[in-house]
Amino acid sequence: MAIPHIFSTYTLNSLLSLKNRIAMAPMTRVHADALLVPTSEMARYYARRADAGLIITEGTVIQRNARGHDHVPGIFNHDQLQAWRQVTSAVHANQGLIFMQLWHTGRVSHPSFLDGSLPLSSSETIMSGRVTRAQGLQYGKSRAATRQEIQDIVQSYARAASNAFSAGFDGIEIHGANGYLIDQFLHHDTNKRTDEYGGTPENMSRLALEVLHACGNAIGYERVGMRLSPGAYLNEISGNLRDGLVFRHLLKQLNRIPMAYVHTGNFDDARKFPELDNMTMTSFIRTHYQGTLIACGGYTFASAELGISNNDFDLVAMGRPFIANPDLVQRLRTQLPLKPYDAAMLNTLY
Ligand SMILES: Cc1cc2nc3c(=O)[nH]c(=O)nc-3n(C[C@H](O)[C@H](O)[C@H](O)COP(=O)(O)O)c2cc1C
Repeated sequence: MAIPHIFSTYTLNSLLSLKNRIAMAPMTRVHADALLVPTSEMARYYARRADAGLIITEGTVIQRNARGHDHVPGIFNHDQLQAWRQVTSAVHANQGLIFMQLWHTGRVSHPSFLDGSLPLSSSETIMSGRVTRAQGLQYGKSRAATRQEIQDIVQSYARAASNAFSAGFDGIEIHGANGYLIDQFLHHDTNKRTDEYGGTPENMSRLALEVLHACGNAIGYERVGMRLSPGAYLNEISGNLRDGLVFRHLLKQLNRIPMAYVHTGNFDDARKFPELDNMTMTSFIRTHYQGTLIACGGYTFASAELGISNNDFDLVAMGRPFIANPDLVQRLRTQLPLKPYDAAMLNTLY
């Protein structure tokens, strides 16, 4: 009997090969210590999942004031870098491959995490709703980043990528999805700028591309992936029909860069978006981007196998099933039933 496509190996590029097509999706767990240093419990958590073809870590902040929660890990100082070495060593000891997701939350934050300052974003905006994982806090106003602040952020991404590489990561994923900082520049609802970072697809894509080049120059483009959500769906960004043009432009530019992959940031990849020519996010990316594509959002063994065999995408990332089933790949391989995900599982880091 033929081996299912999902268990076949995949050559990402001349530096990196995956032992199967299943990636562990990045998932924030808020189990780092108060100084944003990862713990040995986190090393065991990731090592347990090293059967994945690729592990993508939880969002890891590039600066202290890039965060929107307490207890998320960082990669901007020596102690964090040293502690991440335990994680990469443990994953590599189990023959795993691991990328770090680099994160700046932008407006999805609160002054209480930012020494009292307003969160930065592409523009001045107002978010409503409660801050996730922080009791009693409400989102609110953001202020537009100055050009100097944007340049500082780009440099922080480059330093974070170098730190991650020094800590033993096989690569990094730029979190350009899910309504966080880079995504705030990519959608018209949140980007009202009139300088070279707003107003046109070229300008709105500029920050994403500058970050990509800064990281690519720091550690090599083959070790840099990017997560994107061309359809607005999370953190109060509304879709705009013109957003599709921004992502077409960005993906066209990405085709010219020898980066590792593009990864769909989504919870339900069956959803179609009017601004994406009524396509799903993954089919829109596949239409406009010719490099390696990781689909994500509600996939099962059957839907992932079908998508890979139809060439709709190359790899699949699974999130919640990996929280509920540390041995997910083995269970899929041996057709054992999966434990269903339950949000209560987030309280412990098994
Ligand atoms: C608890 C939790 C935390 C998450 N944190 C992140 C994150 O840090 N970065 C990110 O890009 N996506 C994050 N996501 C989204 C997942 O990467 C993924 O897109 C989502 O869970 C859908 O995949 P699934 O249906 O296989 O779970 C998170 C999801 C969950 C459930």
